[in-house]
Amino acid sequence: MTPDDRQVQVLFEAAKAVQANAYAPYSHFHVGAAIRTTSGAVYASCNVENAAYPQGVCAEGGALSMMISAGDRRVAEVLVIGEGELLCTPCGGCRQKLREFADLDVLVHVAGPEGVRRTFTIDELLPASFGPGHLLDPTEA
Ligand code: THU
Repeated sequence: MTPDDRQVQVLFEAAKAVQANAYAPYSHFHVGAAIRTTSGAVYASCNVENAAYPQGVCAEGGALSMMISAGDRRVAEVLVIGEGELLCTPCGGCRQKLREFADLDVLVHVAGPEGVRRTFTIDELLPASFGPGHLLDPTEA
């Protein structure tokens, strides 16, 4: 196992562990997301649904909130784990949320219970994206 593989394995275990805590009584679709930051920290979160459906939050959004709340800012690598046969790629809103804090070449691994199924860059998930550079002076972010 290369060091890179080991880092992905750490994200996989973290995402899988929190996926087990997903609160998804409406969709019954359990998701876990783990983010490694450029500082080396790992933040993992699950989806949290709500009886008022739009108030539910995705796993990726929760992990990003943890990262920002901890004072960390830059995403280095992401892993999302879902259920079923289809790839659990981040939803459109989560792609935009990730893009805010990640360079375009950051890797997003999409996993099932057995392991990583496919890997994308942020740019592949959200081509020609709108981001902080459109609004902020580079010294501000
Ligand atoms: N979900 C996530 O948490 N992340 C994704 O990338 C896709 C969808 C959640 C939202 C909702 O709780 C459930 O999966 C079904 O859409």
